Amino acid sequence: MAPLPRPEILTIRAYTPGVSHVEGANRVIKLSSNEGAFGPPPGVAPAVAALTGQFHRYPDADMPALRDAIGNRFGLDPARIVCGAGSDDLIYLLCLIYGGALPDGSPTELIMTAHGFSMYDIAGRLAGCRVVKVPERELTTDVDAILAAVTPATRLVFIANPNNPTGTFIPSTETARLRRGLPEHVLLVLDAAYSEYVDRPDYEPGAALVDAGDNTVMTRTFSKMFGLGGLRLGWAYAPAAITENLNRIRIPFNVSLAAHDAGIAALAERGWVERCRAHNSAERARMTKTLHDAGIGVTPSEGNFVLADFRSTARANGADAYLRARGVIVRSVAGYGLPHCLRITVGTTEENDCLIEALTTFCAAPR
Ligand SMILES: Cc1ncc(COP(=O)(O)O)c(C=O)c1O
Repeated sequence: MAPLPRPEILTIRAYTPGVSHVEGANRVIKLSSNEGAFGPPPGVAPAVAALTGQFHRYPDADMPALRDAIGNRFGLDPARIVCGAGSDDLIYLLCLIYGGALPDGSPTELIMTAHGFSMYDIAGRLAGCRVVKVPERELTTDVDAILAAVTPATRLVFIANPNNPTGTFIPSTETARLRRGLPEHVLLVLDAAYSEYVDRPDYEPGAALVDAGDNTVMTRTFSKMFGLGGLRLGWAYAPAAITENLNRIRIPFNVSLAAHDAGIAALAERGWVERCRAHNSAERARMTKTLHDAGIGVTPSEGNFVLADFRSTARANGADAYLRARGVIVRSVAGYGLPHCLRITVGTTEENDCLIEALTTFCAAPR
């Protein structure tokens, strides 16, 4: 008889990654995974190439140089930074540490928003939590709905700000109100994977709330604007006790030699964030307007992607197929309960031109 997994494992639906290939297409425009439009900064490739000859060496398990570089870049205490193999790694660890069962054996509860990032659901279930999804208001995190869902079993609240796949954000006054309204023993995780793209004065990625107490963690990634998705590098900024717990259970060499040096090189690139953000804001506005003018609903986004609403599943599937036939890959979000929508990453200007041209032609064609 085959070994049986823990029952909660069988309730998990595996993560659906963005598609990368189209059968028969020799040129593909991949706008399906929210990877940075320009790849990594130019200093990254030589930094990784310089490691040739050292691949047999384990990386530094404590990563002081990388944590210092992150701390310097963002004005944070390096002692309270924990790095991981992508921020997904840290999301898993936080759920395993603070989720699980209550002393009476009943599950703890993890609260997330209805269309929140799917890894919270996966990691929460893995940890043995009951995952509670609360309604949003116009696809935006609703602080009151989260607070209303808190029970004595709640231990974790996850929000992505801005959120994937909706692109919406909540301002710092709202994250502060959420923190104030939660019981002190509940860990609030602010996932700021897309924070570098936000162009709003009323936004704060989460560090201020981390510093203000013992119960908030901010997670960040190098996979988006810094273009290192393939190398896997993320980090968390946390209160000292939470840092200690993360370091207690993370695998010793969770960040590879290449990811470590690539991260330091990426942070060293002057003006990278400003240039990428300016491009993204301009192109996101262009995509939003042209798609809207073509009759597609577009949710206002603060990320490097837009959520396009085709008003029906058939129409969204038709648009997806039409784009694929032209080598353009976008992301189905049916698994997020949004089968009438497609999530489209903001690419280079040329890539966005192709996307816009294809979608306006699709919309103009007689049905
Ligand atoms: C909101 C959000 N958080 C976290 C991640 C995970 O990023 P990574 O594990 O590559 O750092 C993603 C990736 O798409 C995301 O959209």
